[in-house]
Parts: sequence; C-alpha cells; structure tokens
Amino acid sequence: MECVVEKVIIGEIPARKIITKRVPGNKSLEWIQKRQQYVAKGVGNITPVVAKTAKGALIEDLDGNVFLDFAVGIGMQNIGHGHDAVIKAVQEQVESLVHPCFHVTMYEGYIKLAEELAKKAPGTGEKKAMLANSGAEAVENAIKIARKYTGKPGIISLECAFHGRTYMAMTLTSKVKPYKNGFGPYASETYKIPSAYCYRCPYGGAENCNMGCLEKVKNLLKGELSPENIAALIVEPIQGEGGFIPQPSAFLKGLEKICKENNIVFIVDEIQSGFARAGTLFASEGCGLDPDLMTLSKSLGGGIPISAVVGKTEIMDAPAAGEIGGTYGGSPLGCEAALAVLKVIETENILAKAESIGKQLKKRLQSMQDRFEVIGDVRGVGAMYAIEFVKNKKTKEPYPEIIKRITEYALQKGVIFINAGIYSNVLRFLPPLVMTEEQVEDGMNVLEKAIERSL
Ligand SMILES: Cc1ncc(COP(=O)(O)O)c(C=O)c1O
Repeated sequence: MECVVEKVIIGEIPARKIITKRVPGNKSLEWIQKRQQYVAKGVGNITPVVAKTAKGALIEDLDGNVFLDFAVGIGMQNIGHGHDAVIKAVQEQVESLVHPCFHVTMYEGYIKLAEELAKKAPGTGEKKAMLANSGAEAVENAIKIARKYTGKPGIISLECAFHGRTYMAMTLTSKVKPYKNGFGPYASETYKIPSAYCYRCPYGGAENCNMGCLEKVKNLLKGELSPENIAALIVEPIQGEGGFIPQPSAFLKGLEKICKENNIVFIVDEIQSGFARAGTLFASEGCGLDPDLMTLSKSLGGGIPISAVVGKTEIMDAPAAGEIGGTYGGSPLGCEAALAVLKVIETENILAKAESIGKQLKKRLQSMQDRFEVIGDVRGVGAMYAIEFVKNKKTKEPYPEIIKRITEYALQKGVIFINAGIYSNVLRFLPPLVMTEEQVEDGMNVLEKAIERSL
C-alpha cells in the first residue's frame, strides 16, 4: 500500500513530495525492469527516477513523486527544466522547418546562432562558430580544427579532466573507471599535465602556492614534450566530472601564455561551466582568458541537443569545406532553443541569480564543513559548488562510501544530488539558476540531515 511519507509545500510553488512508500514506486519499477531487459547496461543511470514531467527545479516521476533537482541532467538545464521560452521557440520551429541539413540547404537559425556565439565569446579578435550535437562531438571538432591549423599532432589535456566518451574525447579524459576501462587502444599523440587541484596540491600546498603545477608543465614542455609537436591544449576552467575543481586564474593564464608562445591552440572546454553556471556567461570571462577555441554544449540547448566550437576566425577557417560538420549538426530545433536560452540568460537576470544561489550554497556548505569532520573541502565558482568528503580532515583520505548513503537518503526525501570526483568522493551541486531561495534552503536542510544520518 502506498502512503504519504512526506509532503512539503513552500508558498505557492508546488514542492517536492514523496507519495510512495519508497523511491522508486511501483510504476517506475515496472519501467526499470523493462529497462534492464532492453537497454544496454553500459548506459548508466545515477538515480532510479523515471521522469514523467519536469518544470523549473522540479521533476515529477511516473508515480507522482516530485523531486527537487540539484543536477539538472548534469548541468544541461541552467535556466530550468522546460523553460516556456525554449518550448515556444521549439514548437514554432517544428511547425515550419524540422531539419533540411545545413550542408544541403541552409537556414537562418544556424547562422544567427553562430553570430550570437561569435559575438558573445570572450577574448580578442574576429570569431566564427561551427555547430554539432553533443559535447564530445564539439571536442572532436575542436581537436580536428587545431591539428589542421597547426599541422601538428600532439594534444595535451589535464589530469582529472572529462571531455566526453568518443575516442579522442575519452582519451583526453581521466578516471579510467568507468570512462576508459577496457576501451583501448586510445587515440595516439595525447599527453597529460597536472590539474591545479589545490586541495590536494602535491607541490607544497595551496597555502604556500608558488605555482608548482605551472612549473611542472613548463618542465614537461622542456624535457618530455616538444612544443613543435603539440597542436592543442584543452582545459576545463572548472573541472566538472573531475570534482568541481576550479583552476586558478594564474594557472589558466600561465597555460594560455605557454600556448600563445608556442603556436599551440588554447582550447577552453566550457561544456559544463558555460551559460551562466559560473556567474558569468562563460567561466573564461571570470578568469580573464582569451581562448583560441571554446567547446560548448549542455545548457546551450536548454534540453535540445546542440553543441558548438567557437573561436578565432583564422583557426576556425583552417579546415576546408566538407572537412567538419555532420548531418544533424546545429539542427533548426537546437539552434532556436539555443537562441531562446541566450535571450533568457540576458533578460531574466540569470547571471545575478547564479551569484546569489552560489552565495547561499557556499554559506550553508561552509557551515556544514564546520560541523562535520567528513567535509574536507567546499569549493566552487558562481553556482557550480561542491563538497569533498574525507575520512579525516588531516589525512584527506577520500570517503566515497558516504556519498551513496547521502544521495540515497536525499532521494527518499525527494532531493536529487549527484556525485563527481576522481575518487568519487565529491558531491556536486548544479541547481537550475531559477531555483528559489526557499528551494535552495530546503535542499540544503535535507542535505544536512542526510550527512547527519550517514555518518
Ligand atoms: C567539460 C565537459 N566536456 C565534455 C563533455 C561531454 O559532453 P557530452 O556528454 O554531451 O558528449 C562533458 C559532459 O559531461 C563535460 O562536462
């Protein structure tokens, strides 16, 4: 028999409520069983939630449970689920033109979006864009463009990086399990440099920072790698899957300088950190970067698949006609959704909301850090925040086991939290930037209780 376990109503906003005895409820369970029979195991699921509908910060499942969502599909709905402007733009587009394929017949949306991205991208000089479907595809294209432009083969990425699941993107990624295990041989001519993981700094500690990580990179480029063979360096300004590790501006600027001095294309992967998540349209802006190329996706499409490479015209124009692109790249639906997202960010004060949500998260998370020995680090930029769990604050031994207990408790209360981190011991928060103050507070209250119960 099903019963009401918890129902919370905040003001006028329909709020999280769990009406089944346990999550998943019976209707969801039926689909989960079917999923196990017909959907490949390798396609992972973080929660056992089978969604029926979603709006703003809330997801309702097939059983009528309503969840407060601190993940938004891993940061791909920064302006909230089912934003009216995105729905309207897609509905209007689908009625006039579904997809003629840009390579065969052009349409305005592709060109408009390329113009918007070229104008909004940070850094100096004229810019152009090309559009694709997924983040990994943007990364693949950025690497192709960089190789073509420089005529060099080598690609550098960082430890703790995540760039996607296709072959080059996977090769550039860290965390062997689950992303790379058993999938070799990987793409050739790729190299790893350190991440500026300040909480676990092996170069004398963040307190005595002398940019040892940057020195290490410089030494690698003198002793181990020849810059004459390196086409590109790709970096996430705030590493996402790796554990929400903000790379210090000085480190990023140092990498950029090395690239500029050595004809190495400086690629900034803003797939997770972009579109207001970091309190600026792109995290690169906050760090004062001048990327040669940027890779974009996730929240760009407000839920409709689309991605982009945007960068300096001279570099973007290196491939000849037909050498980059793809059948569905930059579909009219994706373009109209993206144009709507960019407008919403501008007109609905989304950057300011990211800042205020970030402040609220930081305050609550820091007070939890004071209270709980297991929270080793609280870090983030804008509304891209995380906490790192350790068994002991002095030894910093990772504590991944507690995450499962916390996320399970929260899920049963109707709050979705997801993990990250090279040691799987980080809880990351990607609330939609339309989440209300009350909803953030509600989620943080559940988190605090979840930690208390999971010790
Ligand atoms: C920084 C970054 N790059 C690339 C990707 C890959 O994007 P996609 O899953 O759309 O291929 C992701 C996805 O999480 C990401 O966070």
